[in-house]
Amino acid sequence: MSCLRVICARVHSNLVDRCLHPQSHGSQLKWLAAPNPRTYIGSGKVAEIKTAIHALDVETVIFDDELSAGQLRNLEKAFGGDVRVCDRTALILDIFNQRAATHEASLQVALAQMEYQLPRLTKMWTHLERQAGGKVKGMGEKQIEVDKRILRTQISALRKELESVRQHRKQYRNRRLSVPVPVVSLVGYTNAGKSTLLNQLTGADVLAEDQLFATLDPTTRRVQINNGMEFLLTDTVGFIQKLPTMLVAAFRATLEEISESSLLVHVVDISHPLASQQIDAVNKVLGDLDVESIPKLMVWNKVDKADDPETVKIEAEEKGAICLSAIYGDGLEQFCFAVQAKLKDAMVPVEACIPYDKGELLNTIHQVGMVEATEYTENGTVIRGHVPLPLARLLTPMRQRVTGTH
Ligand code: GTP
Repeated sequence: MSCLRVICARVHSNLVDRCLHPQSHGSQLKWLAAPNPRTYIGSGKVAEIKTAIHALDVETVIFDDELSAGQLRNLEKAFGGDVRVCDRTALILDIFNQRAATHEASLQVALAQMEYQLPRLTKMWTHLERQAGGKVKGMGEKQIEVDKRILRTQISALRKELESVRQHRKQYRNRRLSVPVPVVSLVGYTNAGKSTLLNQLTGADVLAEDQLFATLDPTTRRVQINNGMEFLLTDTVGFIQKLPTMLVAAFRATLEEISESSLLVHVVDISHPLASQQIDAVNKVLGDLDVESIPKLMVWNKVDKADDPETVKIEAEEKGAICLSAIYGDGLEQFCFAVQAKLKDAMVPVEACIPYDKGELLNTIHQVGMVEATEYTENGTVIRGHVPLPLARLLTPMRQRVTGTH
């Protein structure tokens, strides 16, 4: 059995937010064994919605699933008038379009929108046939072909532009990776509080607003813990349930940054009634991205909003999660310690003698590793601690020197 949600609503400014929440007004729920290939819903439901459209003066009907080009066309025809039928993908693309702040995000969204439109280009030109009084049959069809060609040319130009922007970002990332500061990525359901946490920890001014998908671009900032250790914290696009495959593809390059992280911090809005479903939705997207091998830290945010914060804190401890209130800065220190502990698990133990003329290397060890003991000897500074693997490799010759002194 598959569940479908059809939501009818008058168009108004926060339509989008209302429509992504199941408690939206005017929603219609229906259980079907399988979606109808012509109209997604059965004919009885089409008639029922048509009545509702007239009674409520509805302008847009939103389907909480992806519709085929044929289903969209048939439904618009069935509902008649100027009623717009929109599916889940188109709605999310609209929101992404409003939120895209950087050039790369705008290009990604524009490309996804065009790819979405291509198989759905149907209705736009039928007015030409009507204007010609039906005398020039097929005129609309020819125009659609021309239109599709134009769209394909635009798609290929956009792909090229996007590729060049990505190359640029890759170069920047490679430069960043040459300094082995661990990268910690914040992942989580949209509106969980990822940007707020990044802002609190780094003083960065990343957009943190109570709206869905406020962040579409990865933003990376450096976080320094009191003991001198540093890590790079990256904020990523928020996930949602049933993220249309096309959008996963569109944002794949952005999301791939996640796969190069040393640690994934899964931020959850624990005060949300559907928190556990949101956790599952995020885990599903992570599964699609093939990042299961990267260590994870679970963070329960918005504890201040929970019905019983004390019980939530006890439960979090039992489950190995960190409780936070990012907005009030509560629990940040505990968070940093937990990040450090997790990073340490992924580091390798080293013991090396750093010559006195390599002061910079010693700084890097303090910055990205965890130094547990320091001793000043004739040959240099002997350190014992844990460092990320790439740095451990760099230290190999010096590690041999230590072994030699024993
Ligand atoms: P996307 O960009 O959509 O992925 O959202 P996000 O996960 O980055 O969420 P964001 O930081 O934008 O926060 C969403 C809303 O939750 C904002 O209105 C924040 O002020 C609010 N918020 C974040 N953390 C907390 C918290 O600890 N407590 C409370 N009460 N509100 C919070």
